[in-house]
Amino acid sequence: MAQLDKAKMIVDKDFRIADIDERIYGSFIEHLGRAVYGGIYEPDHPSANENGFRMDVIELVKQLNVPIVRYPGGNMVSAYNWEDGVGPKEERPRRLELAWRTIENNHVGTNEFAQWTKEANSEVMMAVNLGTRGIDAARNLLEYCNHPEGTYYSDLRIKHGYREPHKIKTWCLGNEMDGPWQIGHKTADEYGRLAVETAKAMRLVDPSIELVSCGSSGIQMPTFPEWEAKTLDHTYEYVDFVSLHQYYGNQDNDSANYLAKTMDMDHFIKTVISTCDYIQAKKRSKKKIHLSFDEWNVWYHSKDHDTKLDPWTIAPPQLEDHYNFEDALLVGSMLITLLKHADRVKMACMAQLVNVIAPIMAEQGGSWKQTIFYPYMHASAFGRGVSLQPVVSSPLHDTKDYTDVPYLDSAVVYNEEKEEVTIFALNRHLSESLPLTADVRSFADYSLVEHMVLENDDLKAVNSLNEEKVKPHGNGSAELKDGIIEAQLSKASWNVIRLAK
Ligand code: AHR
Repeated sequence: MAQLDKAKMIVDKDFRIADIDERIYGSFIEHLGRAVYGGIYEPDHPSANENGFRMDVIELVKQLNVPIVRYPGGNMVSAYNWEDGVGPKEERPRRLELAWRTIENNHVGTNEFAQWTKEANSEVMMAVNLGTRGIDAARNLLEYCNHPEGTYYSDLRIKHGYREPHKIKTWCLGNEMDGPWQIGHKTADEYGRLAVETAKAMRLVDPSIELVSCGSSGIQMPTFPEWEAKTLDHTYEYVDFVSLHQYYGNQDNDSANYLAKTMDMDHFIKTVISTCDYIQAKKRSKKKIHLSFDEWNVWYHSKDHDTKLDPWTIAPPQLEDHYNFEDALLVGSMLITLLKHADRVKMACMAQLVNVIAPIMAEQGGSWKQTIFYPYMHASAFGRGVSLQPVVSSPLHDTKDYTDVPYLDSAVVYNEEKEEVTIFALNRHLSESLPLTADVRSFADYSLVEHMVLENDDLKAVNSLNEEKVKPHGNGSAELKDGIIEAQLSKASWNVIRLAK
């Protein structure tokens, strides 16, 4: 086969998409499987601190530098009574958790999670139950969390040992309420009415909060994008964000098609933006709604296994996808897609963080990094600043579901404060390296710092506690001369090319 045509890129510090909101590097902890119990919280584990939090897990969360973590669900929140999870632990009820058909002992609740996020250098994105409950439970929870003192719920928090309010800024108005699997599933009009009235009450309790209106639980939903249009028609003036959720998988074992799935994610984002702007026009509003892509990841490896689990156990091993190398490539491409839309996507949560479809796994013997940990860590570390719009040309290919897929997928971030530039680049070609020329003359005094590469001959290679087969190295081929970078991007590889002054 002839060598692939060159990919070319012109990077200029004045071609700006937008400032990146660091909250696009958020994540998610749901009361599901071993995310909480046996994940972030395991009082009997040797690495647990006095609060029962596993410090080996916190250490890895800190490496990811996760600015915000969505909680407590997910599907679980749609039947959750937040009151079950506060107060003396011995008095907390054991409940049937209906979304995942487990037993919830409520040993961790709002206060413990707020404490955990502090210890993990993060903050809470709180979801309220708009499935089985509504305005009253939401406003009471907000009063409990954010009101300083002198009212029933704020004083209850103080009585429970939390003198200072948690000051939670970001609140999700329910979860995936378009999904028929949701406890308390609603039509768009039913949800829109409930969400706007809940939003109004919550803003009266604390006008400083930001609110997320539920969007579709995936682009494949038959009600998409009518759901967004109808619900935003109700909520538009009272919310700041609309949510997007999307998971991908390589069920057909067609890796070229799998790595092209971010074409679909890009289309999803663009359609939601258009729908928001249509409602803006309809309402003659000055306000722009931002996007909170608050569930995204690969999820498919564990699905068969999970159908065989017995119901009504505590913290069973649900949704424990064991990620391979090609999953890490797709995750890199999903991060690139978020960066390309930094002007409208202002929050995003990799779903989830520990054990459950997660970059971090916690076992008795220790915690370890899944393959997808690395692109997430790179983007979170070097993807802060301004998202630039490179002018890119790349050879193209077609896959089963997508046409004109560029072999090169890329995003560029300029950190003005640190005087650093980072090119994130994926070569989607499965068997050929891709030559890249990047014109960075606009960054005249900059030099090459490093070219990190995540590559592996085996697309199906996985990591484990004992063996890390998939991890980045710093021996990429990039060279910088007279403002031009020349690099060979290895077949099927994730690349991070860093420049600094
Ligand atoms: O993240 C796992 C589940 O996926 C969440 O509970 C739900 O919101 C989504 O369907």
